Amino acid sequence: MPESAPARLPRLDHVAYGGDYNPEQWDREVWDADYEAFEAAGITLVTVGVFIWSLTQPDEDTFDFSELDDIVQRAADEGRKVCLGTGTGALSPWMARKYPDVTRTDHEGRRHGYGQRHNACWSSPDYRRLAAQIAGRIAERYASHPAVVAWHIGNEYGGRCYCERCAAEFRLWLQHRYETLEALNTAWNTTFWSHRFTGWDEIEPPSALTEHWRGPGYTAFQGITLDYHRFSTDNAIRQYNEEKAAIRAHSDLPATTNFMGFYEPLDYHRWAAHLDFVSWDNYPRSVDEPWVTALAHDLMRGLKDGAPFWLMEQTPSVTASRDVNPVRRPGIMRLWSWQAVAHGSDSVLFFQMRQSRGACEMMHGAVLDHSGRLDTRTFREVAGLGAELARTGDAVIGARTPARCAIVVDWDSWWAVEMADGPNRLLRYMPTVQAWGRAFWEAGAQVDIVPVTADLTGYDVVAAPLLHMIKGDVVERLTQVAERGGTVITGYLSGRVDEDDRRFLMDGPGPLASLAGVRVAETDAAEPEVGNRIRFEGADDSVGRMLFEVLIADGSEVVARYGDDFYAGEPAVTRRETEEGGHVWYLGTQLEQAGLSGIIRQALARHNLVGPYADIAGLEHAVRVAPDGTRIEFLLHHGAEPVTAALHAGGTDLLTDRVFTVGDAVTLQPTDVLVIRSAPAND
Ligand code: GLA
Ligand code: ZN
Repeated sequence: MPESAPARLPRLDHVAYGGDYNPEQWDREVWDADYEAFEAAGITLVTVGVFIWSLTQPDEDTFDFSELDDIVQRAADEGRKVCLGTGTGALSPWMARKYPDVTRTDHEGRRHGYGQRHNACWSSPDYRRLAAQIAGRIAERYASHPAVVAWHIGNEYGGRCYCERCAAEFRLWLQHRYETLEALNTAWNTTFWSHRFTGWDEIEPPSALTEHWRGPGYTAFQGITLDYHRFSTDNAIRQYNEEKAAIRAHSDLPATTNFMGFYEPLDYHRWAAHLDFVSWDNYPRSVDEPWVTALAHDLMRGLKDGAPFWLMEQTPSVTASRDVNPVRRPGIMRLWSWQAVAHGSDSVLFFQMRQSRGACEMMHGAVLDHSGRLDTRTFREVAGLGAELARTGDAVIGARTPARCAIVVDWDSWWAVEMADGPNRLLRYMPTVQAWGRAFWEAGAQVDIVPVTADLTGYDVVAAPLLHMIKGDVVERLTQVAERGGTVITGYLSGRVDEDDRRFLMDGPGPLASLAGVRVAETDAAEPEVGNRIRFEGADDSVGRMLFEVLIADGSEVVARYGDDFYAGEPAVTRRETEEGGHVWYLGTQLEQAGLSGIIRQALARHNLVGPYADIAGLEHAVRVAPDGTRIEFLLHHGAEPVTAALHAGGTDLLTDRVFTVGDAVTLQPTDVLVIRSAPAND
């Protein structure tokens, strides 16, 4: 993985406010109405050109920027900034007709015809050439346009292709990685099932036609599938980089592409180093609890060492792509927008500014709906938020999150755990990370979600759930946390496989064993409804589910024991205390939330990291610290009932100018937000 260059964000002195705007779908009179509305709503930035390729290049030899010229110029004339797309997220029909290799072949081996979007094969020389060419042309044309502040390359890179060209690229990628077939055979353990490869050409992409059954998660050879996932990520990155290089020939403005949070198919940690700044699209389900989104923001912020990121898309009102698409309740869009800012976003951007007239997103909400009215609830809320953001000016720009806790997340472990046969397919990576993250969120502790390669020296509490694959020096860095007197929390299925997804030839948790002071004697699994009582010394019982590692404490103390089955009385949770006073927890089973939260809260309390409002249900607290040391405290009330909090820090609420002093009792109604700026710490 390349060293991550420091983040470089668009140079704006305010939170960018606006979003995806597709005026090419509308007549000019509509543009007039759009800008009147943008004025009324405080819109400062539009993202344009994301799906405009069939206009900018109607055939291979014709480039026509007249529409895009007008779009960008109009934005500039109206005093708006532009985040400019390269337009390569959707193919034009002529491309597929002229160059059939630009479309993908799916996991079932079906070569796709023309249709939809996000469907280009990243190994297609024609797509690569055309995409880089249009990106370069656009950069050349608009690089010095005063309105343009950022480049938006492609759109929501996703999925994987299994075509012949990708197979060939995969073989090259493997040759680069392994150099010899001997090394590859060893890594993939190919003597199993007579798989020893004697020529690179014998290697097939792992698909439904080759190594897989029951879908992409079920493979006979994890090593092959894992490498294909890594290759596909690298192939997407190459695609991104080829466009970026074409842009760089003309412009140094920061470039990004819009990520999708916890998106399984592509390893964003491999990718992040290539972005100037991170941006992502937040589309939680209505039923998602606030920590789900909070953690996704934390993951996105963690991609570039905690630097601010951009919220590139969210709906102002309603999605369309789900089976059921409830409308955001009053106040929710505002609350979730501030939540993004609270977690490190320097923008609040919508998809989209005006609702489409036709095709599959015509029911998707927009700032302006089909009526074009400015007196809709959505528009009023958007305008209200615009006014609030204007009041806050540059207060949060560049402000960092002072987290003392980290959760280690790793796509390789995610893939490896979920594609493994046994011990329990129902135990999923992301819900596990979310459960652990929820415990931090509920305790009011800010967390960075970091890659396994992260510098951990700044953290007091580091959680590593399902750290299944051990890579590089992660064990040493975790050990250093404990040796500094910090707390490490890990557990079931961690430390099992090496970078090639081969088992360590030792007891679980493998290389983590001496750090945790524990050995796994055996591993049981059960259906989700089967629980095993977990008995804590001096704390409430909990219940373990799904996976039960019978532990042998070997240098640690037993904190909880199983209550049922043949291993009743055996250790289920252990904690090792290091000479330096560090703690290392090992959780042998997936505890119910209360039990898990209890452990994490205990760990946080030891370091004084339980948040000041942790006992107020639904009240989220987050802090950003501006470059000049000013603290901005966000209080966000997600609960359904009013709550009253005694403020732990004073300052001015930027939204209302109310001045608070420490200890003031403040009542927050559901969806209420406070953005309290304190005096600079060094004054
Ligand atoms: C994604 C895409 C947008 C749009 C929205 C709809 O985030 O990037 O083009 O399709 O979803 O929710
Ligand atoms: Zn392909």
